[in-house]
Amino acid sequence: MKRIGLLTSGGDCAGLNAALRAVYARAHHGYGWTVVGIRNGTAGLMERPVQAEELDDRALSSDLLRLGGTILGTTNKGNPFKFPMEDGSFVDRSNEVIEGYRKLNLDALIMIGGDGSMAIIRKLAKQGNIPLVAIPKTIDNDIGATETSIGFETAVQAATSALDHLQPTAASHSRVMVLELMGRDAGHIALWAGIAGGADVILIPEIPYKLSAVCEKLEQLKKRGRNFALVVVAESVKTETGEAVTAVHGGGAGATRTYGGIGQYIGEEIARLTGAETRVTVLGHVQRGGTPEPGDRVIASAFGVHAVDLIAEKRYDRMVGWNNRRVVDVPIEDAIRAAQTVDPQGELVTAARGLGISFGDSIA
Ligand code: F6P
Repeated sequence: MKRIGLLTSGGDCAGLNAALRAVYARAHHGYGWTVVGIRNGTAGLMERPVQAEELDDRALSSDLLRLGGTILGTTNKGNPFKFPMEDGSFVDRSNEVIEGYRKLNLDALIMIGGDGSMAIIRKLAKQGNIPLVAIPKTIDNDIGATETSIGFETAVQAATSALDHLQPTAASHSRVMVLELMGRDAGHIALWAGIAGGADVILIPEIPYKLSAVCEKLEQLKKRGRNFALVVVAESVKTETGEAVTAVHGGGAGATRTYGGIGQYIGEEIARLTGAETRVTVLGHVQRGGTPEPGDRVIASAFGVHAVDLIAEKRYDRMVGWNNRRVVDVPIEDAIRAAQTVDPQGELVTAARGLGISFGDSIA
């Protein structure tokens, strides 16, 4: 009988519990294995006693399909190879994590994480000879070798819903509404939600913008008789002169991070340059929590089952993924090689331009 470990790592998102449920269902009831849930990602393996417990049939509850976040807890503040100490220095604690894994007497490990966590845990797996399978999750949808990751659809839903809420108030008050969205260095959430929510302007890090072009687009709308506008800004967009405004994101031990710098900047510049009344909304972690959308529940469930099957087949160092309407698996190396950002020449950008949406590089 096998005993497998399961952990969630990095920023949470909707659908993690659905994946966990699927892993348990397949491993325990399909193969008769024991599943050990490790608390707070690699941090749980660093602690003594190791923070972990065997999952039981409560993990089969359909409540987990509906529950956002991760019941295992997660962390993104502790790269074990470069663990931050209170005095600002860093130490290598990778051997402690590997030793923690050994203490649990596991035969293999399933990690649910983004590309950053995958790279770190893959390195740990190589160092400690740990059979590893990865499941991709991130609202940013920037993991390579898979078309989608757990959490993206729910984040897009939250962002679209925000635009649905902003449009009527924008129209009532004749305002330009600026909505700042997450996505790290990728503009996927902004692009998808912008199209779905009827944005007039979408600013993403992959397409450099000019404030003059943004304002020209807004003036054009006004001339056509439109009394409001919706402007979506991805968090990693820089100022026109190339400065990063939003705080460095992720991994903040003991720090409060403030988002909204770039949204505020764009809102203020639009007001200054056009005289429009602008209001800025920063959606922030609302995109991460919430009830998972059906698509996230479905891919999380399919990913969980396939990940366990890979272990049964002894096919390690692989990540499950979704490509061409199918669950697939690929070498983890392919997934972490390069972040998957928006293709500025891709079909969705073309579609958005066709709809009259401006990316601030020209008026569409
Ligand atoms: O990677 C997911 C993500 O939500 C990014 O979109 C965002 O920049 C970051 O994590 C936020 O991290 P934290 O929760 O540490 O503030």
